[in-house]
Amino acid sequence: MSVTTTTATVVEVIDVVAGYLPGVNILNGCSLVAAQGELIGIIGPNGAGKSTLLRAIFGQVNVRSGTVKLEGEDITGLKANKLVSRGVGFVPQTNNVFPALTIEENLQMGLYQRPKAYAERLEFVTGIFGELSSRLKQRAGSLSGGERQMVAMSRALMMDPKVLLLDEPSAGLSPVRQDEAFIRVSEINKAGVTTIMVEQNARRCLQICDRGYVLDQGRDAYTGTGRELLSDPKVTELYLGTLGA
Ligand SMILES: Nc1ncnc2c1ncn2[C@@H]1O[C@H](COP(=O)(O)OP(=O)(O)OP(=O)(O)O)[C@@H](O)[C@H]1O
Ligand SMILES: [Mg+2]
Repeated sequence: MSVTTTTATVVEVIDVVAGYLPGVNILNGCSLVAAQGELIGIIGPNGAGKSTLLRAIFGQVNVRSGTVKLEGEDITGLKANKLVSRGVGFVPQTNNVFPALTIEENLQMGLYQRPKAYAERLEFVTGIFGELSSRLKQRAGSLSGGERQMVAMSRALMMDPKVLLLDEPSAGLSPVRQDEAFIRVSEINKAGVTTIMVEQNARRCLQICDRGYVLDQGRDAYTGTGRELLSDPKVTELYLGTLGA
Protein backbone atom coordinates (compact mmCIF):
# COMPACT_ATOMS: atom_id res chain seq x y z
CA MET A 1 0.00 0.00 0.00
CA SER A 2 1.39 3.43 -0.84
CA VAL A 3 0.51 6.73 0.72
CA THR A 4 -1.20 9.29 -1.45
CA THR A 5 -1.51 12.07 1.10
CA THR A 6 0.95 14.92 1.32
CA THR A 7 1.53 14.31 5.02
CA ALA A 8 4.90 12.75 5.81
CA THR A 9 4.90 9.04 6.36
CA VAL A 10 6.42 8.09 9.70
CA VAL A 11 6.11 4.30 9.72
CA GLU A 12 5.62 2.04 6.78
CA VAL A 13 5.30 -1.74 7.05
CA ILE A 14 5.42 -3.34 3.61
CA ASP A 15 4.38 -6.97 3.01
CA VAL A 16 6.04 -8.25 6.14
CA VAL A 17 6.32 -11.98 6.67
CA ALA A 18 7.53 -12.82 10.16
CA GLY A 19 7.52 -15.61 12.70
CA TYR A 20 9.16 -17.01 15.80
CA LEU A 21 9.71 -20.66 14.92
CA PRO A 22 11.35 -22.03 11.77
CA GLY A 23 8.78 -22.65 9.06
CA VAL A 24 5.92 -21.02 10.96
CA ASN A 25 4.90 -17.58 9.76
CA ILE A 26 2.72 -15.49 12.04
CA LEU A 27 2.59 -12.40 9.81
CA ASN A 28 1.77 -13.42 6.25
CA GLY A 29 2.33 -10.32 4.20
CA CYS A 30 1.20 -7.55 6.47
CA SER A 31 1.22 -3.88 5.54
CA LEU A 32 0.51 -0.68 7.45
CA VAL A 33 1.18 3.02 7.12
CA ALA A 34 1.20 5.69 9.81
CA ALA A 35 1.47 9.30 8.71
CA GLN A 36 2.77 12.12 10.86
CA GLY A 37 0.39 12.83 13.73
CA GLU A 38 -1.95 9.93 13.06
CA LEU A 39 -3.48 7.68 15.69
CA ILE A 40 -3.61 4.20 14.18
CA GLY A 41 -5.62 1.39 15.76
CA ILE A 42 -4.94 -2.30 15.20
CA ILE A 43 -7.69 -4.72 16.13
CA GLY A 44 -8.41 -8.36 15.39
CA PRO A 45 -9.06 -11.71 17.04
CA ASN A 46 -6.75 -13.30 19.60
CA GLY A 47 -3.70 -14.77 17.93
CA ALA A 48 -4.15 -12.70 14.77
CA GLY A 49 -0.62 -11.37 15.10
CA LYS A 50 -1.30 -7.89 16.51
CA SER A 51 1.47 -8.01 19.11
CA THR A 52 3.73 -9.69 16.56
CA LEU A 53 3.19 -6.77 14.18
CA LEU A 54 4.36 -4.31 16.85
CA ARG A 55 7.31 -6.61 17.62
CA ALA A 56 8.15 -6.72 13.91
CA ILE A 57 8.35 -2.92 13.88
CA PHE A 58 10.46 -3.03 17.03
CA GLY A 59 12.89 -5.71 15.79
CA GLN A 60 11.75 -8.39 18.23
CA VAL A 61 10.65 -11.06 15.81
CA ASN A 62 12.38 -12.43 12.71
CA VAL A 63 11.22 -10.52 9.66
CA ARG A 64 11.62 -13.09 6.86
CA SER A 65 10.62 -10.83 4.01
CA GLY A 66 9.17 -7.39 3.56
CA THR A 67 10.35 -4.08 4.94
CA VAL A 68 9.81 -1.78 7.89
CA LYS A 69 10.60 1.88 7.27
CA LEU A 70 10.86 4.86 9.59
CA GLU A 71 10.63 8.21 7.80
CA GLY A 72 11.57 6.44 4.58
CA GLU A 73 14.64 4.66 5.96
CA ASP A 74 14.83 0.91 6.19
CA ILE A 75 14.85 -0.12 9.87
CA THR A 76 13.93 -3.79 9.36
CA GLY A 77 15.44 -5.98 12.06
CA LEU A 78 17.41 -3.24 13.83
CA LYS A 79 18.01 -3.89 17.52
CA ALA A 80 15.84 -2.25 20.14
CA ASN A 81 18.49 0.22 21.38
CA LYS A 82 19.06 1.48 17.83
CA LEU A 83 15.33 1.81 17.26
CA VAL A 84 14.84 3.75 20.49
CA SER A 85 17.59 6.20 19.55
CA ARG A 86 16.04 6.60 16.10
CA GLY A 87 12.72 7.49 17.67
CA VAL A 88 10.65 4.35 18.05
CA GLY A 89 8.97 4.03 21.45
CA PHE A 90 7.46 0.67 22.39
CA VAL A 91 5.23 -0.15 25.35
CA PRO A 92 4.65 -3.91 25.53
CA GLN A 93 1.49 -5.21 27.15
CA THR A 94 3.21 -6.64 30.23
CA ASN A 95 6.53 -6.26 32.03
CA ASN A 96 6.72 -2.71 30.81
CA VAL A 97 8.15 -1.05 33.93
CA PHE A 98 11.07 -1.89 36.21
CA PRO A 99 9.15 -2.75 39.42
CA ALA A 100 12.16 -2.47 41.75
CA LEU A 101 12.87 1.09 40.60
CA THR A 102 10.99 4.25 41.52
CA ILE A 103 8.83 6.08 39.02
CA GLU A 104 11.58 8.67 38.70
CA GLU A 105 14.25 6.04 38.04
CA ASN A 106 12.01 4.43 35.44
CA LEU A 107 11.66 7.79 33.70
CA GLN A 108 15.40 8.47 33.90
CA MET A 109 16.36 5.27 32.08
CA GLY A 110 18.15 6.34 28.93
CA LEU A 111 18.13 10.03 29.81
CA TYR A 112 20.20 10.17 33.01
CA GLN A 113 23.22 11.46 31.10
CA ARG A 114 21.18 14.29 29.61
CA PRO A 115 19.75 16.21 32.59
CA LYS A 116 18.48 19.12 30.47
CA ALA A 117 16.58 16.81 28.14
CA TYR A 118 15.30 14.98 31.22
CA ALA A 119 13.81 18.14 32.71
CA GLU A 120 12.16 19.11 29.42
CA ARG A 121 10.73 15.69 28.79
CA LEU A 122 9.52 15.34 32.38
CA GLU A 123 7.56 18.53 31.91
CA PHE A 124 5.94 17.17 28.76
CA VAL A 125 5.14 13.82 30.35
CA THR A 126 3.71 15.23 33.58
CA GLY A 127 1.64 17.59 31.43
CA ILE A 128 -0.23 14.46 30.35
CA PHE A 129 0.20 12.27 33.44
CA GLY A 130 -0.02 14.96 36.11
CA GLU A 131 -0.60 12.50 38.94
CA LEU A 132 2.89 11.07 38.53
CA SER A 133 4.68 14.26 39.50
CA SER A 134 3.87 14.01 43.20
CA ARG A 135 4.78 10.33 43.33
CA LEU A 136 8.15 10.20 41.64
CA LYS A 137 9.80 8.46 44.61
CA GLN A 138 7.28 5.62 44.73
CA ARG A 139 8.40 2.18 43.61
CA ALA A 140 6.83 1.20 40.30
CA GLY A 141 6.18 -2.29 41.68
CA SER A 142 3.76 -0.86 44.26
CA LEU A 143 1.54 0.82 41.64
CA SER A 144 -1.84 -0.34 40.38
CA GLY A 145 -2.14 -1.74 36.86
CA GLY A 146 -3.43 1.54 35.48
CA GLU A 147 -0.69 3.53 37.17
CA ARG A 148 1.98 1.18 35.85
CA GLN A 149 0.56 1.63 32.38
CA MET A 150 0.95 5.40 32.82
CA VAL A 151 4.57 5.00 33.91
CA ALA A 152 5.27 2.69 30.98
CA MET A 153 3.83 5.18 28.49
CA SER A 154 5.66 8.03 30.20
CA ARG A 155 8.92 6.13 30.05
CA ALA A 156 8.58 5.67 26.29
CA LEU A 157 7.59 9.34 25.88
CA MET A 158 10.69 10.51 27.75
CA MET A 159 12.75 9.62 24.66
CA ASP A 160 10.66 12.00 22.55
CA PRO A 161 9.67 9.26 20.08
CA LYS A 162 8.65 9.90 16.48
CA VAL A 163 6.23 7.04 16.88
CA LEU A 164 4.78 5.38 19.94
CA LEU A 165 3.79 1.71 19.74
CA LEU A 166 1.26 0.66 22.40
CA ASP A 167 0.21 -2.94 22.97
CA GLU A 168 -3.22 -3.01 24.61
CA PRO A 169 -2.98 0.03 26.89
CA SER A 170 -6.42 -0.71 28.36
CA ALA A 171 -5.86 -4.41 29.09
CA GLY A 172 -6.57 -5.58 32.61
CA LEU A 173 -8.10 -2.28 33.70
CA SER A 174 -11.55 -1.69 35.16
CA PRO A 175 -14.05 -0.06 32.76
CA VAL A 176 -13.52 3.40 34.26
CA ARG A 177 -9.74 3.03 34.07
CA GLN A 178 -10.07 1.78 30.51
CA ASP A 179 -11.88 4.96 29.53
CA GLU A 180 -9.13 6.93 31.20
CA ALA A 181 -6.45 5.00 29.30
CA PHE A 182 -8.15 5.81 25.98
CA ILE A 183 -8.37 9.48 26.93
CA ARG A 184 -4.66 9.54 27.79
CA VAL A 185 -3.74 7.89 24.50
CA SER A 186 -5.79 10.54 22.68
CA GLU A 187 -4.03 13.27 24.63
CA ILE A 188 -0.60 11.87 23.78
CA ASN A 189 -1.59 11.80 20.13
CA LYS A 190 -3.08 15.31 20.23
CA ALA A 191 0.24 16.51 21.64
CA GLY A 192 1.67 15.51 18.26
CA VAL A 193 2.97 11.98 18.82
CA THR A 194 2.25 9.57 15.97
CA THR A 195 0.77 6.55 17.72
CA ILE A 196 0.09 2.94 16.73
CA MET A 197 -2.12 1.18 19.25
CA VAL A 198 -3.15 -2.47 19.43
CA GLU A 199 -6.44 -2.94 21.26
CA GLN A 200 -8.67 -5.75 22.42
CA ASN A 201 -11.40 -3.19 23.05
CA ALA A 202 -12.01 -2.84 19.33
CA ARG A 203 -15.03 -0.57 19.30
CA ARG A 204 -13.52 1.94 21.69
CA CYS A 205 -10.27 1.87 19.77
CA LEU A 206 -11.96 2.58 16.43
CA GLN A 207 -13.90 5.44 18.00
CA ILE A 208 -10.75 7.35 18.86
CA CYS A 209 -8.33 6.38 16.09
CA ASP A 210 -7.89 8.22 12.80
CA ARG A 211 -7.45 5.01 10.87
CA GLY A 212 -7.64 1.38 11.79
CA TYR A 213 -6.41 -1.97 10.57
CA VAL A 214 -8.20 -5.24 11.19
CA LEU A 215 -5.64 -8.02 11.39
CA ASP A 216 -6.71 -11.56 10.67
CA GLN A 217 -4.36 -14.53 10.35
CA GLY A 218 -1.35 -12.30 9.98
CA ARG A 219 -2.76 -10.10 7.24
CA ASP A 220 -4.30 -6.65 7.20
CA ALA A 221 -7.80 -7.83 6.27
CA TYR A 222 -9.55 -4.46 6.42
CA THR A 223 -8.44 -0.89 6.70
CA GLY A 224 -10.16 2.47 6.74
CA THR A 225 -10.93 5.37 8.98
CA GLY A 226 -12.16 4.40 12.42
CA ARG A 227 -15.63 5.52 11.43
CA GLU A 228 -15.59 3.52 8.18
CA LEU A 229 -14.59 0.35 9.97
CA LEU A 230 -17.19 0.87 12.70
CA SER A 231 -19.93 1.13 10.10
CA ASP A 232 -18.68 -1.66 7.84
CA PRO A 233 -21.16 -4.55 8.19
CA LYS A 234 -18.49 -7.21 7.58
CA VAL A 235 -16.15 -5.75 10.18
CA THR A 236 -19.03 -5.46 12.63
CA GLU A 237 -20.18 -9.01 12.05
CA LEU A 238 -16.76 -10.64 12.09
CA TYR A 239 -14.80 -8.57 14.59
CA LEU A 240 -16.98 -6.30 16.66
CA GLY A 241 -19.96 -8.49 17.49
CA THR A 242 -23.43 -7.06 17.68
CA LEU A 243 -23.48 -6.30 21.40
CA GLY A 244 -23.32 -2.63 22.23
CA ALA A 245 -23.58 -1.61 18.59
N1 LIG B 1 7.53 -16.03 21.39
C1 LIG B 1 6.74 -16.79 20.62
N2 LIG B 1 7.13 -18.00 20.16
C2 LIG B 1 6.32 -18.75 19.38
N3 LIG B 1 5.09 -18.37 18.99
C3 LIG B 1 4.64 -17.18 19.42
C4 LIG B 1 5.43 -16.32 20.26
N4 LIG B 1 4.71 -15.22 20.52
C5 LIG B 1 3.53 -15.36 19.89
N5 LIG B 1 3.48 -16.54 19.22
C6 LIG B 1 2.36 -17.03 18.42
O1 LIG B 1 2.08 -16.08 17.40
C7 LIG B 1 0.67 -16.02 17.15
C8 LIG B 1 0.22 -14.56 17.19
O2 LIG B 1 0.47 -14.06 18.49
P1 LIG B 1 0.28 -12.54 18.86
O3 LIG B 1 0.71 -12.43 20.27
O4 LIG B 1 0.95 -11.69 17.86
O5 LIG B 1 -1.29 -12.39 18.69
P2 LIG B 1 -2.24 -11.19 19.13
O6 LIG B 1 -3.04 -10.83 17.93
O7 LIG B 1 -1.45 -10.13 19.79
O8 LIG B 1 -3.19 -11.94 20.17
P3 LIG B 1 -3.86 -11.41 21.56
O9 LIG B 1 -5.08 -10.67 21.15
O10 LIG B 1 -4.19 -12.69 22.26
O11 LIG B 1 -2.85 -10.56 22.28
C9 LIG B 1 0.00 -16.91 18.19
O12 LIG B 1 -0.35 -18.11 17.57
C10 LIG B 1 1.09 -17.12 19.22
O13 LIG B 1 0.96 -18.37 19.82
MG1 LIG C 1 -1.32 -9.42 21.74
